[in-house]
Amino acid sequence: MTTILAIETSCDETAAAIISGGRKIRANIVASQIDLHAQYGGVFPELASRAHAEGISAVVSRALAEADLDYAQLDAIAVTQGPGLVGSLLVGLGFAKGLALATGLPLLGINHLEGHVYSQWLADDFSEPAFPILAMIVSGGHSELLLMRTHGRYQRLGGTIDDAAGEAFDKVGRLLSLPFPGGPAIEKAAQAGDKNAYAFPRAKTESAYDLSFSGLKTAVVRAVTVQPDDRNHRPRRAERQAQLRDDAHIPDVAAAFQDAVTDALVAAALAASRDYAASALFVSGGVSANKLLRDKLRQRLELPVYSPPLFLCSDNAAMIGAAAHLRYLAGHRSSLDIEARARWLLSEDVYAAG
Ligand code: KG4
Ligand code: ZN
Repeated sequence: MTTILAIETSCDETAAAIISGGRKIRANIVASQIDLHAQYGGVFPELASRAHAEGISAVVSRALAEADLDYAQLDAIAVTQGPGLVGSLLVGLGFAKGLALATGLPLLGINHLEGHVYSQWLADDFSEPAFPILAMIVSGGHSELLLMRTHGRYQRLGGTIDDAAGEAFDKVGRLLSLPFPGGPAIEKAAQAGDKNAYAFPRAKTESAYDLSFSGLKTAVVRAVTVQPDDRNHRPRRAERQAQLRDDAHIPDVAAAFQDAVTDALVAAALAASRDYAASALFVSGGVSANKLLRDKLRQRLELPVYSPPLFLCSDNAAMIGAAAHLRYLAGHRSSLDIEARARWLLSEDVYAAG
C-alpha cells in the first residue's frame, strides 16, 4: 500500500501526517500557532514562518514515530506548494525538498485547496459519490465554489470577490472583542443570541456563484459601533475606529451575522446545484466546521452534503497526503526546484504551470 509523508505549513499550523492508501491516517500531527497569533488578533506572517522553522523538524519526527515508520518504508513526500503565506510555504517546501534529496523519495508539490477537497476521503464512513461533484471550500483565506469533474479536474464556478468567509468571521470577531479566531467564538456566542435582532444584508453578486462579504462586514460595523454623528454616544478618542455601542448585544450580533454569512454560502451552493447535474456537494475548510452552515446546506439542498470530520476542517497535513495519493498513482512528480505559489486557485489545469 502506498504510504506518503505529507507536510503542510501554508498558514499558521505546522503539520505533518502519514497516509496509507490515500485514506488511512497513520499519523496526523498539527502544531497550532493560535496562541502566538491571538495577541495580534490575526496571523502575523513573520512570526508564522519563524514558528514553522522552529517546529517543523520535531513535527515530522513525531509523525514518523507515531506511525512507527522510517523513511525506507515511505513511497513519497508531499508538501503544500501553495496557496498561502509565502514565508510559511517556503519553510515546509524547503524542508520537504531536503528530505526528498536526502532519502531519494519522490517529491509532490500539492495545492492546499485540493487538500481541503480531499479531506472528505479521510472520513471513516466516506464512500465516493459519482462525479461530477460540487465542492465548496470555505476557510480563512478562501471561499471557492468548484465543479469537480473527476479526480484532480476542477472547473471554477465562482468564489469571493472580496473577503473570504472565515476572514469575515475573524474581522467581526475582532470587532466584538471575541477571542481569535472569530469563527468558533462567533458560533459559540450566537447560541445565546437572536438572529432577528439585526437585519444584515445578503450581498447580491453579478454571478450567482460568487460571494461578497465586505458589505456585510461594513453593515455590522455601522450597526454596532459608535458612529461620528451619534449624539447619544460620544466616542472615546483612542477607540474612535470601533467603539461598540453600549446597547450592542454581542450574542445577537453574532447570531445575525452568522445567519447572513451562512445564507450567502447556501445561496451560492443552491444556485450551482440547480445549474449543474452534480451528485453531491462537498463542503470543507475551517468554516465548514460551522454547524449552522452544515445544517442549512443539508436542509436546503436536494443533493447529499458531505463534510469532513471536525478535526479535518481546519488546516492539517492529512488532507495533503490524501490529495497526493491519487496524483502519486497517476505518475505526478515534482522537480526539486518547484517554487512556493502564494496565489494558486484550482482550475482545469491546476498543476500545468508548476
Ligand atoms: O481552513 P482554515 O483552518 O485555514 C485556512 O486555510 O484559512 O480556516 C480557518 C478559518 C478561520 O477564519 C476561522 O475563523 C474559521 O476558519 N472557522 C470557523 C469555525 N471554525 C473555524 N468559522 C465559522 N464557524 C466555525 N465553527
Ligand atoms: Zn486551509
